[in-house]
Amino acid sequence: MRQENDIESANPITLILGIETSCDETGLAFYDVEEGLIGDVLHSQITLHAEYGGVVPELASRDHILRLVPLFEELLAKTGKTRQDIDAVAYTAGPGLIGALLTGAAFGRSLAWALGIPAVEVHHMEGHLLAPMLEESAPSFPFLALLVSGGHTQIVSVKSVGDYEILGETLDDAAGEAFDKTAKLLGLDYPGGPAIAKLAEQGNSERFTFPRPMLNKPNLDFSFSGLKTHVLTQVKKLRLANEMDKQCKADLACAFQDAVVDVLVKKCIRALKRTGFKTIVIAGGVGANKNLRAELKAGCESIGVDVFYPRQAFCTDNGAMIAYAGYQRVLKGEGGCENLTIAGRSRWPMTELT
Ligand code: KG4
Ligand code: ZN
Repeated sequence: MRQENDIESANPITLILGIETSCDETGLAFYDVEEGLIGDVLHSQITLHAEYGGVVPELASRDHILRLVPLFEELLAKTGKTRQDIDAVAYTAGPGLIGALLTGAAFGRSLAWALGIPAVEVHHMEGHLLAPMLEESAPSFPFLALLVSGGHTQIVSVKSVGDYEILGETLDDAAGEAFDKTAKLLGLDYPGGPAIAKLAEQGNSERFTFPRPMLNKPNLDFSFSGLKTHVLTQVKKLRLANEMDKQCKADLACAFQDAVVDVLVKKCIRALKRTGFKTIVIAGGVGANKNLRAELKAGCESIGVDVFYPRQAFCTDNGAMIAYAGYQRVLKGEGGCENLTIAGRSRWPMTELT
């Protein structure tokens, strides 16, 4: 997407390098102010963490360190750019795993310092939130956003970049976390979201009906930890009855997914009706879920609301969204060459952004 560069500066910003290392994906990308996204590279640590059934923070940090330089070289080769072409470096400064964040921060700040260009901190969830802006058909402000990732489940009112109000959020597990924990209970591989979604395709949605937590509460908050307990109780019962076969797992996966999707969609529709927004954006890893995308689209069509989401690959963590969000932060005058502090924030409420 083209954007005017309205920074009054002797060295106008044209090319921004985005770096994402907040969890288990090392992602780098170039966002060009004239041409939009011109290249992105990604290394997923799925196989590294698979045998542990979840992300091991120390292993994640060590792997980011190994991947950053080769991925950077790959991005340069892929796009034909040189280090000197880069005008600013944007990196995820939080929220996320602190060790993992520090690898990207150290790499980004050092590179910027060596090149004499500004470095800017990016909020990971703002990256997710703005990811649909990278698409050909991008939403315009204001809009409602459903942020659903491994660590967050939030309904956010977005008036403009930095003007965020959380209208509802999970009181316990995030939607992605519930997918991951439920997958573990069913003996599926990490990450659980895609594994459950795949298995659910073979499931019979009529066999089990799971509760819809918080749906009878008038607010826009969520709670997913009870669902996971419900799965556990079912699994125990079915095991005792010797009925826990492959089909049974698929039926449970299907019932679980239906319940999560149903609650997310109904709360979004409620939020849309209350706020009057005519646009909704869905972002974050769980946003890759096909059923969620389809159900939300169907529900929104019925009330005349347009739905926008990033391409599947940009629902989960990536460097492209960080490069784009970084550019928006640079436009706000953030980032600079003076600050040489390498820091990250494991917790960072999005409402602290301006
Ligand atoms: O945004 P993300 O890549 O990382 C965080 O910022 O947390 O989200 C990862 C989460 C994981 O919990 C993963 O299981 C979930 O997104 N996820 C999915 C799907 N793909 C990824 N959940 C449901 N269906 C999917 N297709
Ligand atoms: Zn994420």
